[in-house]
Amino acid sequence: MVGLITFLAGVSTLSACKKNSEDNPPSTDSTVVLTPYEIIPPAHFPVLKIPDDNKPSVERIKLGRMLYYDTLLSNDGKACAGCHLQSKGFTTDLLYQGVTVLPHENLAWNTNFMWNASIQGTLEDAMLFEVQTFFATNLEKVNQNSTYLQLVKKYFGVNKITYKELSYSLAQFVRTLISRDTKYDRFIRGEIELSYDELQGRNLFFSERGDCFHCHINPVMTDNQLHNIGLDSLYSKELDKGFFNLSGKVSDLGKFRTPNLRNVALRKHLMHDGRFGSLEEVVEFYNSGVHKVSNVDPIMTKPGKENGLNLSSQEKMQIVAFLQTLTDLTLLADTTLSTPN
Ligand code: HEC
Ligand code: HEC
Repeated sequence: MVGLITFLAGVSTLSACKKNSEDNPPSTDSTVVLTPYEIIPPAHFPVLKIPDDNKPSVERIKLGRMLYYDTLLSNDGKACAGCHLQSKGFTTDLLYQGVTVLPHENLAWNTNFMWNASIQGTLEDAMLFEVQTFFATNLEKVNQNSTYLQLVKKYFGVNKITYKELSYSLAQFVRTLISRDTKYDRFIRGEIELSYDELQGRNLFFSERGDCFHCHINPVMTDNQLHNIGLDSLYSKELDKGFFNLSGKVSDLGKFRTPNLRNVALRKHLMHDGRFGSLEEVVEFYNSGVHKVSNVDPIMTKPGKENGLNLSSQEKMQIVAFLQTLTDLTLLADTTLSTPN
């Protein structure tokens, strides 16, 4: 189970990086010259924090893109892009070991990763887990690839490829997967109008009545926090126990990280285990299906919501219409993010 594997890897990332640089002293015969690449976040986005030792460069982003699409990293013929497909907002219709594959868009603003937030830190930390633990990338095999060896020597000034260079490059590419051009972004920028239903749905989403915005915060649509939203009254699958599987605390049962909602209309399976197959089902859950377990998030049962949201069928439809304005066709069609030639 992915959640359990991540538990083992979550904490020790920094020391692993340090170890890598000790094992991999700087090469003496090359000077690294990188072309700075400026990531300009949309004006209505929060400040973007990027680690000082991995500032964006044209070269490392390019290398990261090659790696993202290369099956060489795995031991069973998979590439990252095999489960994180651009056409689906960098996720897939298939579940992996009963878990919904999380999309890759705007991960640059995440402070933790995975459904149960088992990885804390930067994108570099998340990518280190991906190559070192999830893929268990065979470094010997990667070092035998002369193209990658040359590129890593040139762009990192080291003599061999370790998990650090792989994760730093992947992090650079994934940081450029920015969704900024949904219909809703265009509306915020004053470029277009929303339809009546979309606008009503948006008003509900951001009102105390619909009450989605406390957790799905605009514009990244997540608060980076864990919540028990009352999906279950009994946790029949280990997976459904969420953050409890890491902390062992009963108060963490059923807690999951708020997912970002961009491109959510493209997802075939919704929630951590894909239990819902449509946005209508999700909205109905929030409307009438919340289990009032002892550690359910107070937001889910605040005054006025004791008996659910009491939305009319028209209002439910309007929230769905708003969620559909979060689809970013520009991101899906961006050829600078697709399989490199
Ligand atoms: C076999 C399918 C599969 C492959 C291949 C795969 N992933 Fe994933 N990925 C998943 C699943 C499933 C999750 C959600 C796991 C969880 O939360 O427990 C996920 C989650 C992630 C996340 C967390 C996103 C978030 O919002 O927290 C990142 C980052 C990620 N993957 C990066 C990668 C990278 C980089 C590669 C290649 C090195 C890769 N993945 C390959 C299935 C896959
Ligand atoms: C208390 C915080 C909170 C509130 C309030 C909230 N959500 Fe969520 N939302 C979450 C969390 C956490 C999950 C993931 C739960 C899981 O998978 O176990 C989620 C999942 C979702 C998903 C599935 C996304 C995916 O990728 O599978 C959708 C859609 C969604 N919420 C929409 C809404 C709407 C619409 C509202 C308002 C009616 C709302 N949420 C209110 C925290 C919240």
